[in-house]
Amino acid sequence: MSEPAHHRVDVALGDRAYPVHIGPGVRALLPRLVAATGARRAVVVSARPEGALPPLGVETLWLAARDGEENKHLGAVAGLCERFARFGLTRSDVVVSCGGGTTTDTVGLAAALYHRGTPVIHLPTSLLAQVDASIGGKTGVNLPEGKNLVGAYWQPRAVLCDTDFLATLPARERVNGYGELARCHFIGAPGLAALPLEQQIARSVALKASVVSRDERDQGLRHILNYGHTLGHALERATDYALRHGEAVAIGTVFAGRLAGALGRIPAARVVEHHDVVSSYGLPTRLPAAVDHDALVGYMRRDKKAEGHDLTFVLDGPDGPELVTGVPEALVRAELAAMPRSTAPTAPVTAPEPAPAPAR
Ligand code: GLY
Repeated sequence: MSEPAHHRVDVALGDRAYPVHIGPGVRALLPRLVAATGARRAVVVSARPEGALPPLGVETLWLAARDGEENKHLGAVAGLCERFARFGLTRSDVVVSCGGGTTTDTVGLAAALYHRGTPVIHLPTSLLAQVDASIGGKTGVNLPEGKNLVGAYWQPRAVLCDTDFLATLPARERVNGYGELARCHFIGAPGLAALPLEQQIARSVALKASVVSRDERDQGLRHILNYGHTLGHALERATDYALRHGEAVAIGTVFAGRLAGALGRIPAARVVEHHDVVSSYGLPTRLPAAVDHDALVGYMRRDKKAEGHDLTFVLDGPDGPELVTGVPEALVRAELAAMPRSTAPTAPVTAPEPAPAPAR
């Protein structure tokens, strides 16, 4: 069978290298990728109905995934592992995740832990998961104390970003994905907004693949992928996830620009560019009216990037984005206080949604 025309990006990690296929209909590649693992059995954990994926060609257990931050916890991982064990899955078999970022993160962690590591293939179905979450091997779940605080690096065998899945995305979910695209502007992939959607995904994946292949385990360079995420994760947690990840990262990106400006790292025009790029995607730029600054500072201190108990941000500067430790709390609080506030308690989309980009 001929392959659907599509983009392919390789994540170069030596003997753990893997392809990311991006385009309409690429889910058709799944049986071939499963066969390449040598698996005799598969567990598919899917937020889409069984008919959404082709038959895998091996004995398959189908489990329903529940997308959503409320389902991204250690109990969900334990439940999956128990189902894998009852099915008789071994580490020579394969797990397939199909859903949004919360599904690929949770199922990815279950695969990482089950039998100390079982192959996994991701089929992200949300824009956010296709441009970022499913690529690069970070898996994880939340604790009440903060976002993604428990996890593992576990690279998938392949990722299939089937853009046909995006056709039915609700508008807010699509804009949510734009949050990670907007932050690409400041970390090495400017100008994505003008491209057709499939190319936006491919460029974002290529940027991420190039970063991950040089710094798989967040020793330095990979921190740039968390541009806008220090405040972003805190906002998600402080709003009890009413604010979506991409929306929160968007506000965090605007804040990172303001903070970099206040620290004299970038000129005023570059600060404004942060606001304008985020806003051009129809993403929120204002802090939610109801968030408490003490809570935000508390969550930001628990950020995984933080060294010790200081405040750490990825900030733009004369040499590009980099991790900046020891940012004074007084300055962070002053910039939070100076941020414009949304009238909505948890700041849903504030700017009008742009016309959707053509699919190709
Ligand atoms: N989403 C940030 C990373 O994968 O490192």
